[in-house]
Amino acid sequence: MRWIIAFLLLWSVSIQAEYMDSKSCDECHEMIYAEHTKSMHHNSSLFSDDVHRKMKERVSKDKYTCALCHMPATKNLAAMIRGMEQPNAKDVRQTDGVSCSYCHQISKIYHGKTYNINFSSAKDGGKPHFFANLGDPDSSDKHESGPNEIYKNSEVCMGCHSHKENVHEVQVCNTLDQHEKTSDCIGCHMPKEAGGIENYNKRGRDEYATHEFLGVHSAEMVKKAVELKLRQEENEITLSIINKMGHKIITQPMRLKFVKTVVSREGQVIWSNFTKSPIEDKEATFIIVFKNSEGEPSLPGKAVGYKLNQNLEAMTSKEVIYMIDDLQKGDKVTATWISYVINPKVAQKLQITDKALTTPIDGYSTTLLVE
Ligand code: HEC
Ligand code: HEC
Ligand code: HEC
Ligand code: HEC
Ligand code: HEC
Repeated sequence: MRWIIAFLLLWSVSIQAEYMDSKSCDECHEMIYAEHTKSMHHNSSLFSDDVHRKMKERVSKDKYTCALCHMPATKNLAAMIRGMEQPNAKDVRQTDGVSCSYCHQISKIYHGKTYNINFSSAKDGGKPHFFANLGDPDSSDKHESGPNEIYKNSEVCMGCHSHKENVHEVQVCNTLDQHEKTSDCIGCHMPKEAGGIENYNKRGRDEYATHEFLGVHSAEMVKKAVELKLRQEENEITLSIINKMGHKIITQPMRLKFVKTVVSREGQVIWSNFTKSPIEDKEATFIIVFKNSEGEPSLPGKAVGYKLNQNLEAMTSKEVIYMIDDLQKGDKVTATWISYVINPKVAQKLQITDKALTTPIDGYSTTLLVE
């Protein structure tokens, strides 16, 4: 496996020559460019994502193995991964992160056990060929274009988003569905909006695929993540947690997501599922904590196993039952989905000070009146 990856990397580097940077698309694809520059794809490299940079520093000072997915357009990918060359803030192929032209030249995906790898159609000289999913694309003097099935069935996302194992063969992230396959990533993360896709719009198109790729950082998306249902029978409250996404609730181990359930009577809280930390109610908390060989909590890179692995498969649900003594008619039970981009405990460890990342985001909420 290792030599196959080494070979693929060398090969994918040697075929990259011409490079149109993301800024160059602005001339014609103005709206897509504006969306893209706000996205985590544009901000994926250690120059723009502070959390990523801090984590990388912990894993290795000189090697940038993360470049494979976080800075894939760089010309010296293999040297960077091995630590023979260092990131350079003046190189636009690097500051571009997951760039437009990189993504649009992925021709197929190699499926590996440790992680998958993107094959690129980039070639020496001539206009680049960008794949996507338009019927009968108009011609452009800057690039060729044409269809490729993987931009329709979301396979194009799987070179970076499928799964990743660390050196101890522990899976550190996974965005696959309940059958370990891809789902309709594009359908949920690239919603169509009104407008043409380029400034001239000769084909008179009236909608285009948006490129913000909103996820856990967006309050609007967090509202769509899960649905909650409450049921009551005498002193028993049943909470159903329904994962509506095409992947597990926890895809990336820095997150913390949970349900807070409270019972109030005449405006006073008389019961709650936890007091200080959500983990007191383990069944309603979604979190991955890794352990090192001493059994202590560890960062993903050094993990030999899981200390805690509370997750829920795509499109599935679970029930949590609470016995609450002396519930009375008219008591109000409220369950709310809460999501943290970075688990505050992890943020503290990595000295992450950006408050936006450790502020809870409220998602779906539901209320029941006790009968
Ligand atoms: C196989 C591709 C791949 C490799 C290699 C990779 N990552 Fe990632 N990384 C991703 C993807 C995809 C996401 C988004 C995942 C999600 O949000 O579920 C991500 C997200 C992250 C995040 C969360 C960022 C945030 O701001 O919330 C951090 C931190 C991170 N990666 C660190 C690293 C580090 C450090 C390395 C190298 C040691 C690395 N990654 C290597 C694909 C990769
Ligand atoms: C000079 C104008 C111009 C520039 C600059 C430009 N494009 Fe295009 N692009 C077009 C036109 C015209 C179309 C066809 C639009 C249509 O059919 O409605 C197109 C279509 C596309 C498509 C759809 C292809 C398909 O087959 O579905 C992609 C993807 C694309 N461009 C990517 C890019 C990227 C990435 C950049 C920057 C690196 C870029 N373009 C720069 C004019 C341009
Ligand atoms: C049915 C809709 C749906 C499908 C299908 C779907 N997602 Fe998501 N995804 C969401 C929602 C909603 C969120 C935001 C809520 C959250 O992160 O808790 C999200 C979050 C994410 C995140 C951020 C998660 C985190 O915690 O860091 C990534 C990365 C992601 N999706 C990628 C993908 C990829 C890749 C696919 C295809 C394999 C995919 N999604 C399929 C709805 C979907
Ligand atoms: C993470 C990968 C990724 C990145 C980065 C990306 N795109 Fe796309 N793009 C796609 C996919 C997938 C589609 C097909 C969406 C569909 O058909 O629903 C698409 C579609 C398009 C289209 C056709 C529009 C349409 O309505 O189908 C254009 C034009 C385009 N992209 C241009 C760009 C430009 C310009 C950038 C950077 C400013 C960019 N893309 C960045 C994945 C990407
Ligand atoms: C070349 C690698 C690569 C490809 C291809 C790719 N992504 Fe990503 N994606 C990343 C990385 C890396 C991040 C995390 C960046 C960070 O947080 O630093 C990310 C972040 C995201 C996020 C934002 C998650 C959040 O933090 O809220 C979503 C959603 C997402 N990707 C969806 C997709 C979808 C859908 C596709 C396929 C059309 C796709 N990606 C293709 C590498 C990739």
